[in-house]
Amino acid sequence: MDQTLEPHVLVFPIPFQGPVYCALKLAELICLSGIHVTFLNTEHIHRPLLRHTNVVSRFNRYPNFRFQTIPDGVHGDRFMEVMAAVDVVTKPLFRDMVVSGTLSRKSERPVTVMIPDASFPFAVDIAIEASIPVICLETVSPCCVWTSYLNLPTLIEAGDVPFKENDLDQLITSVQGTQHIIRKRDLAKFCRSEDLSNPVIELIIKEAHAISQAQGLILNTFEKLDSIVLPHMRKLCPNIYTIGPLHTLYKAQLTANTTSSQEFTISNSVWKEDRTCMSWLDKNDPKTVVYVSIGSLATMTFEQLLEIWYGVVNSGKPFLWVRRPGSINSGYDESHVPIELLERTKEIGCIVEWAPQEDVLAHPAIGGFLTHSGWNSTMESIVEGVPMVCWPYSADQQVNSRFVGEVWKMGVDIKDTCDRVRVEKAVRDIMDSKPNVFTQSANTWANLAKESITKNGSSSIRLGRLIDDILAMSSTRS
Ligand code: UDX
Repeated sequence: MDQTLEPHVLVFPIPFQGPVYCALKLAELICLSGIHVTFLNTEHIHRPLLRHTNVVSRFNRYPNFRFQTIPDGVHGDRFMEVMAAVDVVTKPLFRDMVVSGTLSRKSERPVTVMIPDASFPFAVDIAIEASIPVICLETVSPCCVWTSYLNLPTLIEAGDVPFKENDLDQLITSVQGTQHIIRKRDLAKFCRSEDLSNPVIELIIKEAHAISQAQGLILNTFEKLDSIVLPHMRKLCPNIYTIGPLHTLYKAQLTANTTSSQEFTISNSVWKEDRTCMSWLDKNDPKTVVYVSIGSLATMTFEQLLEIWYGVVNSGKPFLWVRRPGSINSGYDESHVPIELLERTKEIGCIVEWAPQEDVLAHPAIGGFLTHSGWNSTMESIVEGVPMVCWPYSADQQVNSRFVGEVWKMGVDIKDTCDRVRVEKAVRDIMDSKPNVFTQSANTWANLAKESITKNGSSSIRLGRLIDDILAMSSTRS
């Protein structure tokens, strides 16, 4: 006789700061509805998370939540290095856990719905093998998922990828919906590879397949922001939950569910935040400061550092710059920095190793963001109506920066260049002569983003549907 299973969701992020950051918020939103959640972290990411954040105390208040860890054999930080180690070490252990171990039907509390990151296609295969309903969480941008992931087979078939000529300005006409927007240079960075057996390309093809196999896809966006690509995506995966901006929806739902005596400050960065920059920001006039950050993975050479540094300093804008340890890949030697740059920085700059970015972008002094165009950073900037200078590095960032520049008109995309004159001009373009086209669009998008997370907003409705669907999928598993 079938036992009735209590709804129990397994959230399984890939072990990187950005994706874990999103997955934790999603897990907490699911917890708030009373559903049991197990959050499975690989050991590599769980250690710094415990060290630098308040996740344990934050989740202690939910009796229906538990963390679980799984070995990963990871020794480095580079994306494919981590993914390759996980594939060898974690995958077989995960299969055992799901098929016959602590997450299986034989366990005290079997998993009824799995939400793995879409970049773990093996988790989708294992869920299908174990007859567990599976919904993918995609933390990269929908514009990238559509143009460069789901359409990768189309791009290859059309002969667009690998690139045959070096004209990176050529428009890509084989992808529906973005024929007049996306050039070769705006596809995800891996599309520049000459070799189709490149492990990233192999992973993306598996990921696209996994998305089409899953019962649903969760995206960190709101309907209006991605109205160009969502209708096309729905032809391949009809069940899409657009629940972004996730960090804002999260704050709104938490506020609504938290009594005033409970604190709900969150800190889920895996580096220690230096909050001294907030009092530095307090000393600056509204919308005068440019914030510079390249996220948690991107790096730059020392030469690029100097070009961006000169560009920012020459713009004359006060600046707050996050210099993550290890982010200058050829090493940082202050004796090679021109003295004029150091002196001017003392006057108008503030440099920290890691900032409370959401708070920084919400600070009235911030008037522009020089960013690597990671999807979380982009969404955080959109919500706060901060125009951007986009200097994309890898992954989805080449696509995001193009959408920021051409579709949302929220900034200047300087991809594939790095010279001080260009940087200075781009910073001036987004911050001088207010109101300009960028600040106007930024305000419009910020309002639409905030509207989407109100009680009857599109993202709140999609979150409600996600919870209902988890309950319905759990009951069919009974
Ligand atoms: C990676 C990819 O690079 C990105 O393109 C993809 O969309 C998600 O995974 P990352 O490089 O870390 O992410 O960039 P991003 O997505 O922008 O995430 C960075 C996060 O770190 C943001 O949420 C930001 O608020 C936070 N952050 C960054 C801080 O809290 N403090 C900082 O000083 C810098």
